[in-house]
Amino acid sequence: MAMKSTAAIVLILAAVHFSQQSSITVYSAEEEFEFKLWMSKYDRVYGLEEHYHRLQIFTENKNRIDRHNAGNHKFTMALNQFSDMTFAEFRKSFLLTEPQNCSATKGGHVSSNEPYPDSVDWRKKGNYVTPVKNQGPCGSCWTFSTTGCLESVTAIATGKLMLLSEQQLVDCAQAFNNHGCNGGLPSQAYEYIKYNDGLATEDGYPYTGRDSTCKFHPDLAAAFVKDVVNITKYDEKGMVDAVARLNPISFAYEVTEDFMNYKDGVYSSTVCKNTTDKVNHAVLAVGYGEENGTPYWIVKNSWGTTWGIEGYFLIERGKNMCGLAGCSSYPLPLV
Ligand SMILES: *[C@@H]1O[C@H](CO)[C@@H](O)[C@H](O)[C@H]1NC(C)=O
Ligand SMILES: *[C@@H]1O[C@H](CO)[C@@H](O)[C@H](O)[C@H]1NC(C)=O
Ligand SMILES: *[C@@H]1O[C@H](CO)[C@@H](O)[C@H](O)[C@H]1NC(C)=O
Repeated sequence: MAMKSTAAIVLILAAVHFSQQSSITVYSAEEEFEFKLWMSKYDRVYGLEEHYHRLQIFTENKNRIDRHNAGNHKFTMALNQFSDMTFAEFRKSFLLTEPQNCSATKGGHVSSNEPYPDSVDWRKKGNYVTPVKNQGPCGSCWTFSTTGCLESVTAIATGKLMLLSEQQLVDCAQAFNNHGCNGGLPSQAYEYIKYNDGLATEDGYPYTGRDSTCKFHPDLAAAFVKDVVNITKYDEKGMVDAVARLNPISFAYEVTEDFMNYKDGVYSSTVCKNTTDKVNHAVLAVGYGEENGTPYWIVKNSWGTTWGIEGYFLIERGKNMCGLAGCSSYPLPLV
């Protein structure tokens, strides 16, 4: 009780900031303190005006996280590297913006009738999944979904796991409806790799996270695509079949505000849409399972290892959650 009343006193107008519109914004010492801890953890430095602007956004994000975590949900939220950004800012820097041509009305994937296991995790089956990478502020998620999948299918076929180049896809895959930091799709990137006769390694063509001119040279080619396989639109069972029997797969879905702060648990949303015109993020499904009766996908993201479950997240499976079954695909490696 004593602790609580002390906190309450501290909460009273410990810091007051008059904004340019001369409206008064009030922050508690606790909020300022948390913000400063967060700033030092994520290496942020701001000018004075910017400091209070970011503190306000941070506080709104933090309140949203606390409200969510106090409720009854299948997933929790936490502060992360995006906590000083509004969702609009986040979307502009990290997500695909224009509607993508994501609609394989009839995909080439043929499901088997065999029963599949209750859970699969390609990270545990062998050395088939590379460490989580970080796309930075560039709408290049599609290149990470692409390299992640080609890295895995190649390792499954050859026993050799190598890191592949996202930057080559950012710089060179425009002829297949990809747009560098402004977006693209894994299926279109596999087409590019197929017709380009190869993709470089990460070291051969390193990531800068900026649009630049294509520097590919045939000597750099290290991984190859024989063919591209789409999974028919909204055939989530086909996705399970592919992950159970073959390999991890690329998919795309709609990221909404509640996803930005995901920490752990099975992500499930009533905010996101389930149609292909809304997808704005591409990722890699490396497995699936079930927790307390809720089936989920195990997904590798490209926002670094401090986000989510060491860079991964779980998302509800079997409902086309956020349109995740709208456009999934994988390449057949040429080895
Ligand atoms: C796969 O789907 C994409 C759209 O996401 C389409 O452009 C491409 O032609 C399809 N490829 C095949 C082999 O069906
Ligand atoms: C979708 O496809 C059309 C026709 O090929 C193309 O003009 C358009 O740029 C594509 N959209 C995107 C976002 O790539
Ligand atoms: C999308 O969601 C709506 C409303 O929940 C549902 O009726 C519809 O069947 C879903 N469509 C797809 C393609 O999953």
